[in-house]
Amino acid sequence: MVTHFSRLQLHTFSIPGVKQFYHEQLAFPISHESDTEIHFQPLPSITLCFTEGLEPNAPAHIAFEVAASGFDAAVGWLRNQNVTLLKWPDGRIVDEFDSRGRNVYFRDGDGNLLEIICHSYVQEGILPPIGNMSLLYLREVGMPVEADAVIPFREQLVRLMDFGLDKVFDNFTFAIGGTAHAILVSKARKWIPIAMAALPPAISISFGVSSIDFLEGVKTRLAAEGIPFESDAPECVSFRLYSYPICLEFADFGADVPARLQLPLARLKT
Ligand SMILES: [Fe+2]
Repeated sequence: MVTHFSRLQLHTFSIPGVKQFYHEQLAFPISHESDTEIHFQPLPSITLCFTEGLEPNAPAHIAFEVAASGFDAAVGWLRNQNVTLLKWPDGRIVDEFDSRGRNVYFRDGDGNLLEIICHSYVQEGILPPIGNMSLLYLREVGMPVEADAVIPFREQLVRLMDFGLDKVFDNFTFAIGGTAHAILVSKARKWIPIAMAALPPAISISFGVSSIDFLEGVKTRLAAEGIPFESDAPECVSFRLYSYPICLEFADFGADVPARLQLPLARLKT
């Protein structure tokens, strides 16, 4: 099964700029750095890689799940770090939704829309909260597509990668593998809370999977659908879906972690 987002590769217009934001303001540790590339390791389970991009690019949207008990402190810490928190049209900054969670949004220097979010149902004590924001895992990555691609894209993720679905609408769906929520959204539907155009960013997305057997199954299904893929080693496979480069890699996240976290879809599957 897919357990988590393990690596994102994004473009930036300024390596020093992302370093100032992610390392100096957000205190994400640096795991690799060169003149044209920098990697951050906010959690053991996720690497954020930025490479210098020389072409115009649309901003991405990502969200980190944080421990509910650490949410208020995380918001206070972001304010202390002089991170500008974005407002809803009515002026509020912290949103409470479904009476089950809270979130706040902010942006990096390239305009990428970041979010920290907590859900009251997420069981604490399963994953260690990391850093000043009590990060648990990378929960969301936005994958905008053409309006008519949302439905076939989600059906493809269900078929190929055994994803579950939540918040299923014609123009929006969470496609969920373990803790990883891919947001399949129409380009015509804007990102909240600042009505930011949801254009497809230059982003490569790696998912961690819990077994080599699962990867073999994905390869079989890719071949059956005529989707080209590369697999230089048994523990990884890469391919493209709706122009997004996707990589699946075996990683020791813990196949039982999503269910132990009490994530709704993971509970249904066990
Ligand atoms: Fe989000």
